[in-house]
Amino acid sequence: MPNPIFPSVAERIRAVADPVPAPGFAPAEPADFPTEGYESGLPQLSHSAVSSSGNLPSNVGKGGRHLAADAPKNPLRDPEDFRLPRIAGPSSLVIFGVTGDLARKKLLPAVYDLVNRGLLPAGFALVGFARRDWSQEDFARVVHDAVKENCRTEFREETWEQLLSGIRFVQGTFDDDAAFERLHAVMDELDRDHGTGGNHAFYLSIPPSSFPTVVGQLQKHGLSTPQPGCWRRVVIEKPFGHDLASAQELDNVVSQVFDEDSVFRIDHYLGKETVQNLLALRFANSIFEPLWNARYVDSVQITMAEDIGIEGRAGYYDGVGAARDVMQNHLLQLMALTAMEEPASFDADNLKASKIRVLSAVRGPTDIDAQTARGQYVSGWQGGVKVPGYLEEEGYNPESTTETYAAVRLEIENRRWAGVPFYLRTGKRLGRRVTEVAVIFKKAPFIPFTEAATSNLGNNMLIIRIQPDEGVTLRIGSKVPGTAMEIRDVTMDFGYGHAFTDHSPEAYERLILDVLLGDPPLFPSREEVELSWQILDPIEDYWAHHGKPEPYPAGSWGPHSADVMLAREGRTWRRP
Ligand code: BG6
Repeated sequence: MPNPIFPSVAERIRAVADPVPAPGFAPAEPADFPTEGYESGLPQLSHSAVSSSGNLPSNVGKGGRHLAADAPKNPLRDPEDFRLPRIAGPSSLVIFGVTGDLARKKLLPAVYDLVNRGLLPAGFALVGFARRDWSQEDFARVVHDAVKENCRTEFREETWEQLLSGIRFVQGTFDDDAAFERLHAVMDELDRDHGTGGNHAFYLSIPPSSFPTVVGQLQKHGLSTPQPGCWRRVVIEKPFGHDLASAQELDNVVSQVFDEDSVFRIDHYLGKETVQNLLALRFANSIFEPLWNARYVDSVQITMAEDIGIEGRAGYYDGVGAARDVMQNHLLQLMALTAMEEPASFDADNLKASKIRVLSAVRGPTDIDAQTARGQYVSGWQGGVKVPGYLEEEGYNPESTTETYAAVRLEIENRRWAGVPFYLRTGKRLGRRVTEVAVIFKKAPFIPFTEAATSNLGNNMLIIRIQPDEGVTLRIGSKVPGTAMEIRDVTMDFGYGHAFTDHSPEAYERLILDVLLGDPPLFPSREEVELSWQILDPIEDYWAHHGKPEPYPAGSWGPHSADVMLAREGRTWRRP
């Protein structure tokens, strides 16, 4: 079966045997070229609507382009061949919030890297919309600097020139009708002169409070409705609200203007190779599945630790906190992928169905005091540098009770997982930056060695290292060489750096490309987002009315209460 998830893993393999097309090699296409995505950057006899995964783009027949049934086919190309690069078709990406941190550090460099990898066509344009009083040249300079500073692939003048030719800037505020008319004119000009083909994606990298205004303006000015055979999509950055009710409200606003197939909610963790590898590890191998259940698994620990503090994000972070910022999305998605049943296929609907089933079965803590922990970092030492506490960071409310660390214990009420705790934790200014999923197995029911021989033997563990040092570790016991029987933990390691020769693309590269291709499996659905809020809301409500976060020193592994939370159940946090 073709598989829409894995091409980018395969892309890495392909890169060895089949170098990516040179920048600027992507074929220039006439504005009305009728395809969703190109099949390949190589010279082509024909194009088809089949992406490299072999699947028809999901929106064909739903406002997407309809291809002529008799379009010529290249007999030498098998659409299921995973070595085919997936190349976006003519289109533009219009970024609202283009002056923000995310755009500068992630989105703009990702767009450049895609161009550099030959995955965006010459008929691609990048439009910035912002309040700043910038000229076209000012904006191009901002993009240039952001790209140069943060791009993953080599900076090349030819690539930059290709991108530059499609860069436009529209100055205005979100409630400014004239600005949206200007945007309209720019989009028309791009369709006419740059070959964007009437296909436009609107990226809302803005606070959720502005969604209704922007989405309303897109509708009012006729920007949300595509011409027949073209598409319009909207990309929504998290946070999707701050609780279930507000998420539903936002979804209602968006769904009045865009149908669900055209809405792409970003959870950038799903764009990470190592997160997608969770699916490969679980469902392409035979050795894990028999052990992947309550009979053999003692518990699961999902950790997302960051060494950075809040650094200039006071406006966003204060009042949001660690649980809403990353647990509601990244950590629950990791949990869903770890625990879900095998989907019927890896297309968006089946993947979503599997995730929804498991998220619906999640049971929150029965005793929130005992089964959650939260903390706030105070000043401490990190990497030999003295860093300020959260309340001393610039622009902060010194009375803030926002948590910068959160840990919760969840269970999944189904036959596979009943009784297995899933511990989720995240924090800023922790010991080091690391994200991992640790599946901790039960001890063997009988160990035919003396207690002394096994005093250094822990539980077997499978650790999926999401970042950094991406890979998988299996921890098992082994005899220490010598005359006595002494058994100790050792590890077997798979490291991406050793196994593959190419670097993994950034999550945003994959996700932006998927938006332009109209490939939805890596985007959480409305139901998933709402279920995640349902899991978190009771905890947030309780926290709002009971106590406050416990201080923990920057550079440590979080508040004492988090250790107590596990100790109560006879467990300890893994030290990543
Ligand atoms: C974002 C959060 O979603 O993820 C940030 O809003 C966090 O607070 C970031 O720093 C971490 O992303 P990554 O990819 O560096 O783990």
